[in-house]
Amino acid sequence: MLKNRSIVSIDDIGDNELDDIFKATDEMSNALKQGKVLKLLDGMVMATFFYEPSTRTRLSFESAMHRLGGSVISVSEAKSSSVSKGETLADTVRMAEGYADIIVIRHPMEGAAKLASRFSSKPIINAGDGSGQHPTQTILDLYTIKRELGEINGKEITIVGDLRYGRTVHSLLLALTKFDVSINLVSPEILKVPDHILSRLPKGIKMKVANDLDSVMEHTDVLYVTRIQKERFSDQTEYQSVIGSYSIDMEAVSKMKEDSIIMHPLPRVDEIAPDVDSSPKAAYFRQAGNGVPVRMALVSMILGGK
Ligand code: NCD
Repeated sequence: MLKNRSIVSIDDIGDNELDDIFKATDEMSNALKQGKVLKLLDGMVMATFFYEPSTRTRLSFESAMHRLGGSVISVSEAKSSSVSKGETLADTVRMAEGYADIIVIRHPMEGAAKLASRFSSKPIINAGDGSGQHPTQTILDLYTIKRELGEINGKEITIVGDLRYGRTVHSLLLALTKFDVSINLVSPEILKVPDHILSRLPKGIKMKVANDLDSVMEHTDVLYVTRIQKERFSDQTEYQSVIGSYSIDMEAVSKMKEDSIIMHPLPRVDEIAPDVDSSPKAAYFRQAGNGVPVRMALVSMILGGK
């Protein structure tokens, strides 16, 4: 199955593999709840290269590896590594494969993880490549929907915010085409889903571009909110023009249906008001919590510990 494979794009996960990943995630989650000490990857080493800021993704990968009995070596900024001396990504990866069994990489350049995978005989996991993709986030997003609502099929999913630069949105959209869902896209005009992603969505997909959130809130099952990706704008006046475009407050939440949920890959800036956190609909911290068991499942399946 996933053994020895890289995950650089959500397309690297086959349609029939998600169920196995979810099953393994449930097992990991139960083991964690019972406080079991797992030794599945005893003696194995993960190398993490985070050339862009990260809190959740990095900590959950590292926690996952430790909880599987493995260990982690890491570089957190280009400044402290040989990248600052002009080393290419290809050379960094060729060196790292001698030190570790699996390599997790976050990089500002779209396509970086794919490039790295070409030079590595060890599996590469894309933890976010610029505005490209963030496949493991998508797996945990899908797992969260399934866990919170019981099903992914049949749901109406509204994705709001930065659909242009948000890599979590790109991977999620591509993954959702494999389910029978309705998708609403809500964003400022300049932050629409890029054509290179739209052109990859099947023709028959139930998707509409909504002009405002109000028109879709009442029938939405999953409201997937994203941060406007300030760091990706080359023109800061463009950023200023869309800043604070959406803010989900309790009044907006009160219009949502009974069993609906609000998700966010986090970090949030001002797109969800803090008082929404106490609503049972606020699933984003539970979503972040799923990051550890999902990544435990993925890493153990790739490294054959399970
Ligand atoms: C996201 C990312 O880095 O793409 N965060 C995450 O991994 N949980 C979303 C974001 O930074 O807005």
